[in-house]
Amino acid sequence: MVIERICEPKELEVEKIDAEVSKNENILRPKTFDDYIGQDRLKRNLKLAITAAKKRGEPIEHVLLYGPPGLGKTTMAGVIANEMGAEIKITSGPAIERAGDLASLLTNLADGDVLFIDEIHRLNRAVEEILYSAMEDAKLDIMIGKGPAARSVRLDLPRITVIGATTRTGALAAPLRDRFGLVHRLEFYREEEIARIIERSAKILSSEIDSAAAEMLSTRSRLTPRIANRLLKRVRDFADVKGDGKIDAEITLAALGVLEIDELGLDAADRNMLELMLRNYQDRPVGVATIAALTGDEVSTIEDFYEPYLLQIGLLERTPRGRIATHKAKKHLEKHGKEI
Ligand SMILES: Nc1ncnc2c1ncn2[C@@H]1O[C@H](COP(=O)(O)OP(=O)(O)OP(=O)(O)O)[C@@H](O)[C@H]1O
Ligand SMILES: [Mg+2]
Repeated sequence: MVIERICEPKELEVEKIDAEVSKNENILRPKTFDDYIGQDRLKRNLKLAITAAKKRGEPIEHVLLYGPPGLGKTTMAGVIANEMGAEIKITSGPAIERAGDLASLLTNLADGDVLFIDEIHRLNRAVEEILYSAMEDAKLDIMIGKGPAARSVRLDLPRITVIGATTRTGALAAPLRDRFGLVHRLEFYREEEIARIIERSAKILSSEIDSAAAEMLSTRSRLTPRIANRLLKRVRDFADVKGDGKIDAEITLAALGVLEIDELGLDAADRNMLELMLRNYQDRPVGVATIAALTGDEVSTIEDFYEPYLLQIGLLERTPRGRIATHKAKKHLEKHGKEI
């Protein structure tokens, strides 16, 4: 069974290092702390760090942002650079294959630049080693020559800020994690914040949306800005085709119905997963690999895209022996006509 999903793994825009990014940059992406809605604790800490760093005339400490996809890690990296008045270069763990790739990247940076490394948990060991001394001492250790004549040389690097992002802190080697001065988890947003994000995005897209519709969308966006924006765009299409372009509660409900997104923001794929778990395991724990086999997904898709929100709203529970679909999940499915 192929189920379209609203929380599909992001099209991994392995954004090429450098300015190209700003060209394709999503117009909905906030650029300043004022535009960046929610995550107040994170913003408070960062503002303080930035003010202090500016006062000292230094780059800010290295920042590690972690948390489920679509909560605004990449966006925040851009905001930090912008607020520092710094240039940002963007790359990702899997894009840096060899130590030499990182070395040439680092030597092309200037003092004060921000290097954003997405999916930093996917850096390989040799590359991590280079990153350590770059982060810690602003030095680059390279080997020159081969065999007995080989010697190691230390080069000076510019003083930069590394911002790392990951959906998995568990997957990050401790020595790497320890080199970040600021380590922050992005939290799911509150519904009122999501509603504000939707209203802001609608304005940028020149779309008219009333508050009832924004509120309805906010409750079905999995407390995640990326999904809120995606749903908004789909509802906007619907309003353009089936109505006069205005987004009200009626149009929103109709569009969500077509997308099979229910009042908790679950789509058919989520409900299918919970149903399979409940049918096969009732209230017994089941390992994530088994869940993946049941649904035909990758383990990482379950872990990164389904689970965090379902855990957050109490439809799943995590135990040492696996995941349990809760009584609340059963009730929810029954409400949607599934007999378990
Ligand atoms: N705080 C916010 N206020 C307004 N819009 C936001 C906020 N955070 C994120 N967004 C919007 O949500 C989209 C997704 O955010 P972003 O790409 O930064 O997420 P991410 O955490 O980097 O996700 P991933 O882990 O998949 O890389 C952005 O394009 C932006 O438009
Ligand atoms: Mg990102």
